[in-house]
Amino acid sequence: MLVRTAVCAALAVALSASAVIAQSKAIAERKDIMKGVGAAAKTGAAMARGSAPYDNAKAVEVFTIYANAAEKMPGLFPDDSKTGGETTASPKIWEDMAGFKAAFAKFAESSKAAQSSVKDLDSFKVAFGEAGKQCGSCHEVYRIKK
Ligand code: HEC
Repeated sequence: MLVRTAVCAALAVALSASAVIAQSKAIAERKDIMKGVGAAAKTGAAMARGSAPYDNAKAVEVFTIYANAAEKMPGLFPDDSKTGGETTASPKIWEDMAGFKAAFAKFAESSKAAQSSVKDLDSFKVAFGEAGKQCGSCHEVYRIKK
């Protein structure tokens, strides 16, 4: 009996430990993805400002990174990842998961459209500016300020 209880206790510890790993993995992964989006935004901003020469392949790459992020992000907010791992995700995400997912769906759609519509610096500036507004409006609602 004693052995069985010990085994059960060990199993419970192992299970809760793996839940913690899953949670922190989701947080780390979504932070990494957003860091990639942030880096792409920097590349884009330099071209839009003219501090880096315009390169259409790089411009398309910016929107490819955005679109890939928008597709992966919604799946990285399991219920057990509301806190921990220095997340800046707001509780609002879980209160309004449908609205949060819709914001990413919109971001995915406009980023994909931009991948094929961007042809030159002028069209890039327009699409890049539009995408930038979506970063701000999503962060405003679904991210806490630290
Ligand atoms: C639909 C919502 C949404 C959109 C659109 C969005 N983000 Fe985010 N972003 C988030 C959330 C949520 C977090 C917080 C993730 C966490 O800490 O768990 C975040 C975090 C970040 C971070 C911090 C990453 C870190 O170091 O932890 C950066 C940088 C970032 N976003 C850049 C951008 C940029 C640039 C854009 C637009 C091109 C963008 N995001 C668009 C939701 C969004």
